[in-house]
Order: sequence, then C-alpha cells, then structure tokens
Amino acid sequence: MKKKLFALIVISIAASMPAMAEGEYDDHIKARQGYFQAVKLNVDLLSSMVKGKTSYDSTKASIAADNIYQLSRLNTQIMWPKGSGNDSENTKAQPDIWEDFSAFEEKFNAWRKASQQLTATAGESLSVLKTNFSELSHSCKSCHREFKAR
Ligand code: HEC
Repeated sequence: MKKKLFALIVISIAASMPAMAEGEYDDHIKARQGYFQAVKLNVDLLSSMVKGKTSYDSTKASIAADNIYQLSRLNTQIMWPKGSGNDSENTKAQPDIWEDFSAFEEKFNAWRKASQQLTATAGESLSVLKTNFSELSHSCKSCHREFKAR
C-alpha cells in the first residue's frame, strides 16, 4: 500500500516536471492572453453588429460594451512582469513595453477612455455604436502596432 502511494507520488512529480521546466512567466503570459481573449469575445460581438452581420440589439450591445469597460478598468500590472517579453516563444509582447512602461500605460489609458465612452452610449443606437466602436478599435490597434508582435 505504502509502496503504491510512493510510486504514485513519484509519477505525479515526474508528470509535473515538464510544466516546471517551461518559462518562468508562463502563468503571467497565459493570464494576459486569456484576458485579451475575453476582451475580444465582447469586441467581436459588437463588431458583428457594426458590420451588419448580426442585427443591432441594444441590450446585448450595452452588456458587451460594459464588459469591455470593466475589463479595461482592471489593474493588469501584475500580468506584465519585466522580462516576460517576446524572448519567450509563447508571447507576442514586445520587449519595448519595458523600455518605456509609461508609454504602454498611456495606450492602456486611451483604451480605457474609449471603452468608457462606448459603454455610456452603446445601447443608444447603431449609428452611435458605430462611431464609438471605431474609436475603440483604433485604441486596440494603436497599442498592438507598437507593443505586440505580429
Ligand atoms: C496597452 C496595449 C494594448 C491594448 C490597449 C490592447 N492590447 Fe491586445 N495585446 C497587447 C499585447 C502586448 C498583447 C500580446 C500579449 C502576449 O502575447 O503576451 C495583446 C494580445 C491580444 C490578443 C491575443 C491574445 C492571445 O490569445 O494571444 C488579442 C485577441 C487582443 N490583444 C485583443 C485586443 C483588443 C480587441 C483590444 C481593444 C479592445 C486590445 N487587445 C487592446 C496589448 C494591448
């Protein structure tokens, strides 16, 4: 019985070895990528309405816009430790982020501002949504252009 337990422990330690050998910042990288996937899910819903692929739904638009705003309000600093840039093959974050972290934060702030504007108005009408949505997607692209590898 004891032997079996010991064998089990050895096996489970061995099984967790490859995970331990992975990059130091894998958890941070996974967290921020998952975070942006959650943002994307809501952005895609709005984008589909803006492009006329789905019909405009004021309630759904408001919920998605509010989700984006709430996500933009998180303090994500913990997800961006220095050294977790694209030296590792798992991330597309550019090392430039840590050269000038305040420039990166400015892009975050611009996104937060665009999200706030969007959440206040997304439920009004499709034309208002369209105007503010373009501002929002501009704020994403503006950061990606500088700080995210293709
Ligand atoms: C302040 C900069 C910044 C802003 C603003 C920003 N992003 Fe990103 N985004 C990044 C960086 C950096 C990465 C790469 C993260 C990594 O791979 O570690 C990323 C990655 C992503 C990814 C890929 C996630 C994955 O699974 O690898 C998606 C999707 C994404 N962003 C969508 C968006 C959308 C949509 C917006 C706007 C609503 C947005 N981002 C705003 C910096 C930003």
